[in-house]
Amino acid sequence: MSFDRSIKIAPSILSADFADFGREIQAIEAQGADWVHVDVMDGHFVPNLTFGPPAVAAFRKHVKTVMDVHLMISPVDSYIDAYAQAGADVLTAHVEAGPHIHRTMQAIRAAGMKAGVAVNPGTPIEAIEHILDITDLVCIMTVNPGFGGQKYIDMTAKVRKLRALIGDRPVHIEIDGGMDPTTAPLMAAAGADVFVAGSAVFKGGSVSTPEVYGKNIAAIRAAAQAAL
Ligand code: DX5
Ligand code: ZN
Repeated sequence: MSFDRSIKIAPSILSADFADFGREIQAIEAQGADWVHVDVMDGHFVPNLTFGPPAVAAFRKHVKTVMDVHLMISPVDSYIDAYAQAGADVLTAHVEAGPHIHRTMQAIRAAGMKAGVAVNPGTPIEAIEHILDITDLVCIMTVNPGFGGQKYIDMTAKVRKLRALIGDRPVHIEIDGGMDPTTAPLMAAAGADVFVAGSAVFKGGSVSTPEVYGKNIAAIRAAAQAAL
């Protein structure tokens, strides 16, 4: 995985057909997805439950791009090796998930993955300022995590501040929650490069009408690129 700041679209398979993940992943990649975003929820850190390591390992067999695994779980550290084994390329933990985010980032890199840190809407960006040298991606949440299809919460000022804090470091800025062709440009202008989108990618399409996914992905990408 080489670093660049080009616009990347990362569909969240939280909005896919849960009985057909293999074909859904193949469809979004064939239709232009840059990364595949996998939302892991534990029913404790967030009020919803999704995928354990065996499910993520099964997704891996279909992912040809980048598997971007977003952990909404607490604790994190005891599961890092299991998600490395499952084949995550990027593993993102929440700064709110425990008292030792610095140790968590070190452990994710030591397990051979890119280390991401996610920041909830209510958390100040300064919470991650001192780990940027050991961080590969910062995920700014523009919804409270737990569910797809929620309304976008504006975090433009936070993203601008983060962009300035990052400076020349090779750190991606990812936005997660309510991204569509109207909201993605705001975040692109503020400095984001990775756009997670669940409902806005999967809406109106299916594995038998994958061209709808392609149109949805292209619309988000075009809107974000136009803002640069
Ligand atoms: C929310 C998840 C998101 C979610 C985004 O907890 O982290 O990745 O799937 O869904 P949309 O794009 O529908 O807001
Ligand atoms: Zn996510």
